[in-house]
Amino acid sequence: IRTLGVLTSGGDCAGLNAVIRAVTHAAVLEQNWRVLGILDGSLGLIERPLRYRELHADAGDPLLLRGGGTFLGTVSHGDPFHFQMPDGSFRDRSQEFAAGARELGLDALVVIGGDGSMRIMTPLCQRAGLAMVGIPKTIDNDVTGTESAVGFATAVQLVADSLDRLQPTAASQHRVMVVEVMGRSAGHIALHGGIAGGADVIVLPELELSIEAMLEHIENQLQARRYGALVVIAEGARFPDAPDQPGAVGPWLAQTLQARGVESRCTVLGHLQRGGAPVAQDRLLASAFGVHAVKLLAEGRSGHMVSWQRSAVTEVAIGRIASSGPRLVCADDPLVQVARQLGIAIGRGR
Ligand code: F6P
Repeated sequence: IRTLGVLTSGGDCAGLNAVIRAVTHAAVLEQNWRVLGILDGSLGLIERPLRYRELHADAGDPLLLRGGGTFLGTVSHGDPFHFQMPDGSFRDRSQEFAAGARELGLDALVVIGGDGSMRIMTPLCQRAGLAMVGIPKTIDNDVTGTESAVGFATAVQLVADSLDRLQPTAASQHRVMVVEVMGRSAGHIALHGGIAGGADVIVLPELELSIEAMLEHIENQLQARRYGALVVIAEGARFPDAPDQPGAVGPWLAQTLQARGVESRCTVLGHLQRGGAPVAQDRLLASAFGVHAVKLLAEGRSGHMVSWQRSAVTEVAIGRIASSGPRLVCADDPLVQVARQLGIAIGRGR
């Protein structure tokens, strides 16, 4: 490898700059490769003029450990094989991507992305004749094949911090504070953040918890302790009458509880969960992932995603995970059991 490209793809999260820093450091200083940061995901290679910037050893600056977002930019524009044009039509732009990669003389690409990016970028890089290694990032932590993805720990911290702030107002006013967190199909943020922040009820997309069961639990709590209750609900949680869009299910739940006689308010954490300085765990993961990705490419091991398993960095073949769909919370997840043992209402498997 002489020239390595690196790009961020899909939704941003905390820790992306720390990954780019680690990749650049390992590739420039250890391998003596030229590193090009591709701007705005695969768009940087698809559109003309090409959008990129050379990353030098000073991209190893520790300052990059601190910032949120991605200084390379990212877009969630879907699939370059079925690219939606401004007029709404679809076009295969994989050839433009391949030509862009050739023009820049890229030999390999590090893709920092979620589940969808791993699936899409693998055939795209194959078509372009590029070696590829993936680095999982997503606040949802739903990438199959890794126990942790970059950005998750920081999002969970924000949820826990928010519950710390909402608990005193809930307690003072004997209210229920409903907190809606992200997670379209996977409830990992709600599960981890809810336990860490002392929630009384956790509502996940994967488990079923009726309004009646929730009310009974909350009323018992309020009677027993006379202070308020905290309910954490993932945006993808499903109820027969609830609206099915991010930012709507939490307010719906608070109104439903209120209509049933329980004073309730809702806070939607939304994109706050993506920002802020990455917590130490995300910086560590980002650093280990970036270095390992370069090592895999140096060993000629294309087609892998770096992964975190049993407190160590390793890798999985992307082919093995590409068809498995997102990693969801299972009813027998050890943390679901922990929640139950803590007296948190969390529901049962669907
Ligand atoms: O996939 C991560 C995620 O944060 C989801 O939990 C959320 O629904 C989605 O991205 C929001 O993305 P955007 O508002 O950028 O489309």
